[in-house]
Amino acid sequence: MNRAGDPAAERHEELVAAARAALAQAYAPYSNFRVGAALLFADGALVTGANVENASYGLTLCAETVAVARAMNDGRRGGLLALAVAGESALAAPCGRCRQVLHEFASLGGTDPLVLCAGPTERRDYRLSQLLPEPFGPDTLEA
Ligand code: THU
Repeated sequence: MNRAGDPAAERHEELVAAARAALAQAYAPYSNFRVGAALLFADGALVTGANVENASYGLTLCAETVAVARAMNDGRRGGLLALAVAGESALAAPCGRCRQVLHEFASLGGTDPLVLCAGPTERRDYRLSQLLPEPFGPDTLEA
């Protein structure tokens, strides 16, 4: 991806590093697949999260959803410029549910955040709108 003109571009490496650091807090005793996420906001703040599993497997919370919940409980509504997702053992891109959760949050501020998907060494970058085309969101309900 051409990053020219993106005001958050110089912080992308830092954002990926924050997601990799966050995965140390993962609680993933069942899958052993630790994931970290880091959200970058227009005011420069970073909010992180890591996956939280449960003995009732289906109750698992993904890293991105934890990060969004933390940010929203800090009072944030939108302003999401970019986020990174880091898998400890393989490249991780947001699951379908997280794409929907991220879309809801981003749409509150009208942004289409960059999504930096990272593994131990590799990285692939997308816009959220590429990962979730034709989204269902708050705008849909107001139409
Ligand atoms: N996981 C995430 O944290 N984010 C994703 O977007 C994909 C999956 C977690 C959930 C579960 O704890 C582990 O990865 C294996 O599925």
